[in-house]
Amino acid sequence: MLFSLARPALFLLDGEDAHRLTIAGLRLMPASSPPRSDPVLAMRVAGIDFPTPVGLAPGFDKNAEAPHAMFGFGFGFVEIGTVTPLPQAGNPRPRLFRLAEDRAVINRMGFNNDGADAVVARLKAGQGRKGIIGVNIGANKDSADRIADYAVMTRTMAPLARYLTVNISSPNTPGLRALQDAGALAALLDAVIEARGTNTCPVFLKLAPDLEAADIDDITRIAIDKALDALIVSNTTISRPALRSRHAGEAGGLSARINRGLKTLLQRDGFATLAEAVGTG
Ligand SMILES: Cc1cc2nc3c(=O)[nH]c(=O)nc-3n(C[C@H](O)[C@H](O)[C@H](O)COP(=O)(O)O)c2cc1C
Repeated sequence: MLFSLARPALFLLDGEDAHRLTIAGLRLMPASSPPRSDPVLAMRVAGIDFPTPVGLAPGFDKNAEAPHAMFGFGFGFVEIGTVTPLPQAGNPRPRLFRLAEDRAVINRMGFNNDGADAVVARLKAGQGRKGIIGVNIGANKDSADRIADYAVMTRTMAPLARYLTVNISSPNTPGLRALQDAGALAALLDAVIEARGTNTCPVFLKLAPDLEAADIDDITRIAIDKALDALIVSNTTISRPALRSRHAGEAGGLSARINRGLKTLLQRDGFATLAEAVGTG
């Protein structure tokens, strides 16, 4: 009900302003408990008991400003981020576009975030509260050594996160998705696993939907080889299905029900291999 009342007002604002206002409002709300575990919905992944499989994807609360308020909306987990070692402003505005007719969004935010120190302080302040908070980590755009950035972020966030997501699938940091290439990916994951040390925080890998079947095979093989805990499918797509909105030509990642890239590919070519490889059938 709250949403149906607020939606028309929020739609009068630019998308990013509406988002900021929403976060500001959520910061004023009391922390909520996660939903009670329902035996039909509860699931265990990587040793984590999720009360429901529906969680909040990163990009909504990039800076861990209100993760505990979000549990009150029924989310079984909240993934914050993407967080980079240093704060960064991201791309110039406008960088978030509503494609209302297509029930879609295009964004090219570019990892705007407050940086690791600020996010660590907020996560520490919330420690002890209930709810699964995952931390999605990335590299600074101007970093001279992106793999080192992921290692630093792993070291910093593993003690505070219920799980870590290595995000190499954003289309809005030039060159980032090249880390999905087999050689770079193996080196990246070695660095992350070494940085995790004796901490047992599960590590997930978030993929782009715009991969070829051969890439999926490589990534699957490496993920198993490095004993990763899960793959997250998927980030926004750079493909453009038929869209009606005037913003359809904007650069960035498209998210919507029509973001079918990897999901379709998994069903068509890769899923059998993936399912067989992880042994879940
Ligand atoms: C405005 C916006 C910002 C996002 N920022 C991030 C981000 O910082 N890190 C990340 O891994 N994914 C980010 N995402 C991607 C979402 O987490 C999610 O993977 C994507 O929207 C799923 O696409 P779908 O809705 O088409 O399934 C962002 C998405 C949007 C719309």
